[in-house]
Amino acid sequence: MSFSNKNVLITGAASGIGKTTALLFAEKGATIIVVDINEDGGQETVAEIEEIGGTAYFYQVDQSDQHAVQQLFVAVKEKVGQVHIAVNNAGILGQYVPTHIYPANDWHRVIGVNLNGVFYCMQMELAMMLEQGGGAIINVASVAGLKAMPYASAYAASKHALIGLTKSAALEYAKKNIRINAVCPVFTQTPMLDDNVQGQEQQKEKFRKLIPSRQFAKPKDIANAILWLADGQTAYVTGISLPVDGGLMAS
Ligand SMILES: NC(=O)c1ccc[n+]([C@@H]2O[C@H](COP(=O)([O-])OP(=O)(O)OC[C@H]3O[C@@H](n4cnc5c(N)ncnc54)[C@H](O)[C@@H]3O)[C@@H](O)[C@H]2O)c1
Repeated sequence: MSFSNKNVLITGAASGIGKTTALLFAEKGATIIVVDINEDGGQETVAEIEEIGGTAYFYQVDQSDQHAVQQLFVAVKEKVGQVHIAVNNAGILGQYVPTHIYPANDWHRVIGVNLNGVFYCMQMELAMMLEQGGGAIINVASVAGLKAMPYASAYAASKHALIGLTKSAALEYAKKNIRINAVCPVFTQTPMLDDNVQGQEQQKEKFRKLIPSRQFAKPKDIANAILWLADGQTAYVTGISLPVDGGLMAS
């Protein structure tokens, strides 16, 4: 798999799955546009890409801010011209509490980042890709977009909606040489998992036991699936929501 001469934009690339995906694409020759709300982490990803001889540019953006996303794409177009592959990966888990006491502000924040933010990015990505004559978009959803995640209702709602958005857009642009797919990771060893179940070993153990393979995914497991969906070899694949889940969805 080679991504030489490809520009890859990745949101949430300061950490976890996004960062690992950025480094893997860079190893395979792509130029990376690192997008994140976290400036220090974003700059660190750029530095690590440069250390392995790659090229990357960082843009600090809160993707729930439509205007900021629009400005981002104007700047990116000026810098690199085209975006061949876009990985809409940034996301937050939000609170882990029963629905009847889920704070409305947190609900709006989770939907604002995980759903509205991806919608704002996709609008700009699609406009660029239509002009270019093609491209590939990979949205990072979750197994919580395919089945329930009790006590994380905002997160599950945002990821279910993201899959609906992915499928609908995939059909709209299938004739335009733009492929749109989603990956659906199970619990993955990133700060998102570590920060939310830190010190709660029992809870972490419960999550691990839900997975038929009895192992949390590693960021590289998810990154490999993203690169597979971005590759020209999968040019006939569009509109899928691919579980990367140690067998969870089959159970
Ligand atoms: N870790 C898991 O168990 C797991 C499981 C399924 C799906 N996912 C999904 O994978 C994606 C990546 O998560 P991760 O596990 O790598 O988490 P992470 O917390 O390590 O990384 C998420 C990144 O998104 C960035 N981000 C958050 N809000 C943002 C915003 N408003 N604008 C721009 N950037 C923002 C963060 O700064 C961070 O760098 C998310 O969409 C998440 O829902 C994660």
